Amino acid sequence: MEFIDSNLDKYVVEHTSIENDLLKKIQRETHLNVLQPRMLSGPFQGKFLSLISSLVQPEKILEIGTYTGYSALCLAEGLSKSGTLITIDINDELEERVKGYFQESSFSDQLTLMIGPALSIIPQLEHDFDLVFIDADKKNYINYYKEIFPKVKVGGLIIADNVLWSGKVVDQNAQDPDTQLLRDFNLMIQNDARVSNILLPIRDGLMLVRKISN
Ligand SMILES: C[S@@+](CC[C@H](N)C(=O)[O-])C[C@H]1O[C@@H](n2cnc3c(N)ncnc32)[C@H](O)[C@@H]1O
Repeated sequence: MEFIDSNLDKYVVEHTSIENDLLKKIQRETHLNVLQPRMLSGPFQGKFLSLISSLVQPEKILEIGTYTGYSALCLAEGLSKSGTLITIDINDELEERVKGYFQESSFSDQLTLMIGPALSIIPQLEHDFDLVFIDADKKNYINYYKEIFPKVKVGGLIIADNVLWSGKVVDQNAQDPDTQLLRDFNLMIQNDARVSNILLPIRDGLMLVRKISN
């Protein structure tokens, strides 16, 4: 589903700063060699993540759902000089590729890829995060939010991708489990008095959540 007219979409992209050469390479190679390239954030959403991260200047970033590392490298652009980013993915087939891209980047010392189910890894993390990007299996979005919330600083930001689920969240005929879970996730955030949130219709929908209290 396209949320805006395709000409307008093209114009929007043409008036957004372009991605760097490494991100271009990741995008190209993902489309050529990796299953489901549509999962990659892409240049427009990637620039948004990069700009948000640059405004936050995080010391600690957590990403749930690395895929080929595109969004991790966009988020890393905002890291403070001593900042670090941990990204988790369950798919060990992508490990070598992602580590190679991280090595090529100027943030290689700041990035850690952890392979395994995110719900098993998150409890082992002892950081206070300034920025969390949730972009993995939809069925666990609520679990991820509950697990990470205590590990996010007050004032920190949680961003969740795909919350419009190609528009299915408002389609009464869509009753599949992922759609229902995303509706539940969006409603849970909307009713959470500890946060201030905005659902942005960027790409497949980004929920931005600022933690205002514990
Ligand atoms: C949409 S892709 C991430 C895209 C990436 N953030 C980007 O924008 O380029 C979702 C990723 O979540 C991973 N994933 C799915 N279930 C997971 C789980 N239980 N734990 C960790 N990662 C998981 C998948 O292997 C996949 O690579």
